[in-house]
Amino acid sequence: MTAPKKLFIKTYGCQMNVYDSERMAESLGDAYVETKTAADADMILLNTCHIREKAAEKVYSELGRLKPLKALNPDLKIGVAGCVAQAEGAEIMRRQPAVDLVVGPQSYHRLPAMEARVREGKTALDTDFPEEDKFEKMKGRGKAARAPSAFLTVQEGCDKFCAFCVVPYTRGAEVSRPATRVLAEACELVERGVREVTLLGQNVNAYHGVGPEGADYTLARLIREIAKIDGLERIRYTTSHPNDMDDALIAAHGEVDKLMPYLHLPVQSGSDRILKRMNRSHTAESYLRLIERIRDARPDIVMSGDFIVGFPEETDADFEATMDLVREVKYGYAYSFKYSTRPGTPAAERALVDAAVADDRLQRLQALITGHQREIQTSMVGRDLSVLVEKSGRDAGQMVGKSEYLHSVHIDNATASVGDVVRVRIVDAKTNSLTARQI
Ligand code: SAH
Ligand code: SF4
Ligand code: F3S
Repeated sequence: MTAPKKLFIKTYGCQMNVYDSERMAESLGDAYVETKTAADADMILLNTCHIREKAAEKVYSELGRLKPLKALNPDLKIGVAGCVAQAEGAEIMRRQPAVDLVVGPQSYHRLPAMEARVREGKTALDTDFPEEDKFEKMKGRGKAARAPSAFLTVQEGCDKFCAFCVVPYTRGAEVSRPATRVLAEACELVERGVREVTLLGQNVNAYHGVGPEGADYTLARLIREIAKIDGLERIRYTTSHPNDMDDALIAAHGEVDKLMPYLHLPVQSGSDRILKRMNRSHTAESYLRLIERIRDARPDIVMSGDFIVGFPEETDADFEATMDLVREVKYGYAYSFKYSTRPGTPAAERALVDAAVADDRLQRLQALITGHQREIQTSMVGRDLSVLVEKSGRDAGQMVGKSEYLHSVHIDNATASVGDVVRVRIVDAKTNSLTARQI
């Protein structure tokens, strides 16, 4: 038997890429073991993100840094996967000839065959959108123990076509995995020690999967079924679109104990004029009413969101409307980005906001969000929360985990082990975490 080769995967972008990277590593099977350093790898895969210009450019600079490694290890093959691979295809090999393999997100099940091809000294390129069920074909042979919290992709792609966004082009149309397969995978994860699953999709609440006997499963129904799995303690899901937040899903937040009180619901802007130009098909008002209904179902829910500032033609008044919306919602977490032109998207043709103005708006928005974030963190002091223990901390006797609201919690006097869900009293709030005592 020959010794396994070494695989180094670097993952950029969203959680779906994290999930895909795990599946790719598993699909290469026993021929490879993973390594944490690029320098000793025989195969390097960059799983890339195309969402903003900077994200895509990072890939080319990383490839430039990796190229000299080929002179040191003649066996080294370099591959590019993910959304840059899908968007740029063969162009990647033209720009960086050190690249041997380019594979788009819908073709990952073909990776083992592509790997064999590059081992013969050829290049391999696949950016098709095949009909096959990729995840079923990539089914992990892995039976190793897993960390307590795992991602589980249930839906891929997007049909929304927001005017700024590349996802519908890089990930393709919305496709939901069959509910039975998702349930089987969730059971498998629990057998391997997983206590929390985060259901993933670019538009996860648009989920419509085929259930047993052909039944149509919505996300709410899927969550209720997953909640029945013994040993699974927590369910989360991300990312959702406001227009797909149906009554059943809102009701689930009030009724399913295992569904955690945290929701990432991007709005992008608080100005109806801009939302219209973004092709978001909701208004600021409809979004606020939606959050009201979600909070009626689950009053303590912590909201999270995404914002784009400096979208083409955004005026001061438009931006102030975004600030007003943020003040009204008070997010526990929120991510804000300066608009980045993406070639091929409708907004790419439009006039840009002055860069200095956009920078200033971004800073103001981030300061407002950070203030709220701190306020919510501080309001946890003195409260009793439950924490899923994920790892040991830096100090002796300290364990680190996540609260139901997704706050990072350091438990100072922990007797609990990794994978336990324990009750704690929050004693202090630091910038990025809470300190607690086990009770
Ligand atoms: N499916 C999710 C988000 C996908 S991308 C949703 O519908 O919200 C994650 C975030 O990146 C988006 O919410 C948006 O805020 C940001 N984003 C997407 N395209 C962008 C662009 N061209 N410039 C700046 N930010 C962008
Ligand atoms: Fe992109 Fe999300 Fe809009 Fe889809 S809904 S186009 S993923 S921002
Ligand atoms: Fe990036 Fe693709 Fe995810 S563009 S955010 S890796 S879907």
